[in-house]
Amino acid sequence: MDFRLSEEHIMIKNAAREFAQTELLPGVIERDNKQEFPDELVKKMGELGFMGVMVNPKYGGSGMDTISYVLIMEELSKIDASASVMVSVNNSLVCYGLEAYGTEAQKEKYLTRLAKGECIGAFCLSEPEAGSDATSQKTTAIDKGDYYLLNGTKNWITNGGSAEIYLVIAQTDRDKGSHGINVFIVEKGMKGFDIGPKEDKLGIRGSDTHTLQFNDVRVPKENRIGANGSGFRFAMKTLSGGRIGIAAQALGIAQGAYELALKYSKERKAFGTEIANHQAIAFKLADMYTEIEAARLLVMKAANDKDSGNNYDRSSAMAKLYASEVAMKHTVEAVQIHGGNGFVKEYHVERLMRDAKITQIYEGTSEIQKIVISRSILRD
Ligand code: CAA
Ligand code: FAD
Repeated sequence: MDFRLSEEHIMIKNAAREFAQTELLPGVIERDNKQEFPDELVKKMGELGFMGVMVNPKYGGSGMDTISYVLIMEELSKIDASASVMVSVNNSLVCYGLEAYGTEAQKEKYLTRLAKGECIGAFCLSEPEAGSDATSQKTTAIDKGDYYLLNGTKNWITNGGSAEIYLVIAQTDRDKGSHGINVFIVEKGMKGFDIGPKEDKLGIRGSDTHTLQFNDVRVPKENRIGANGSGFRFAMKTLSGGRIGIAAQALGIAQGAYELALKYSKERKAFGTEIANHQAIAFKLADMYTEIEAARLLVMKAANDKDSGNNYDRSSAMAKLYASEVAMKHTVEAVQIHGGNGFVKEYHVERLMRDAKITQIYEGTSEIQKIVISRSILRD
């Protein structure tokens, strides 16, 4: 077992860190306040190959492995989790879904542009009455011969307003339950497809989240991905990879908070000495460092499982469960170490704390990860 990164992985990590420091850090507080993320920054991430990290270069991707992807995700998330969630959805849900299950024509038409960051994608599974209970899809797609008629509502959709290409999961045959679900490529601007207002959120405020409405949208037959009835399996397999991305996001948020807390504790003095010299603070740092390292090992294990062709349903759920809990716990501690300064925006840790919360909720809540893990171990 070798826990060291290769030269190439170190270069990729450094490139992502450099980008995060020079391009994401300036303006991150303002973007959080205004709930915006400029197209210019998405374009730059595309130029660096961050929007299609694992996609085959023949479809415009960077052809890198999952380890590279999590290194990039960690570095971006240390500074701006709104940027990294866009990267995560585009890479591990939309690009992966198209590359693994799409036809050659679908890949040529959609994947290449997505992988280059010329446009971004969205993944639309959740509904007002189908969040954790994802098989209870109410959105319907009725087979009308050469097209499907799509009706329903999707909520909480990341990149909901900024995307051009949407992967929409819908029920095509209710009698078949989860085997009567399909996934469709829907383009922005299709007649009957409406985008609701941007949600005003606690965290990842730079990322745009919207409710989407589909009223008699005619989706061409050739826009269905995969065999008839394979949509739920598509969603579950795609989400297993997505959970590696969100685990890496949580890891980055925790690492970012730890680095800020470490620096602050060595500078701030109280009772005649740097606060790091008070054991209560030093022990917090020790717990942070240890648990963040444990989270990193789980994230790397899940990424390595995916790269090695092993099943990664369980390891991705474990990585996401643990890393997101660590992110929440230690961003709170980072605020505590900063005292009053932790409570204001200019010290960044309050934003990291707000951003950490979503990692315990999206791509399956912590409770859902425990369902996935427990079912998997009980099956063995
Ligand atoms: N691979 C292949 N097939 C799978 C699978 C997997 N990982 N997981 C389930 N299936 C199959 C099952 O085998 C079953 O098929 P059979 O009937 O043939 O056995 C079928 O799918 C239904 O599975 P379950 O019976 O396990 O379904 P369930 O109703 O008990 O739900 C669940 C399972 C794990 C709770 C699932 O509903 C789930 O993951 N919920 C969470 C949803 C989620 O993560 N949403 C995220 C939205 S995207 C997002 O959030 C993006 C973002 O924020 C940035
Ligand atoms: P519910 O399912 O109603 O859960 C409520 C509570 O009950 C949770 O604590 C949950 O863990 C618990 N619970 C539910 N069932 C069980 C059970 N069986 N056992 C134990 N506890 C249970 N979705 C997309 O499809 N695409 C996106 O791009 C996307 N982006 C998102 C971005 C943001 C900012 C947010 C907030 C959400 C996003 N989501 C997205 C939706 C997200 O995946 C769901 O919010 C999440 O899966 C939980 O669903 P829910 O909100 O309906 O909660």
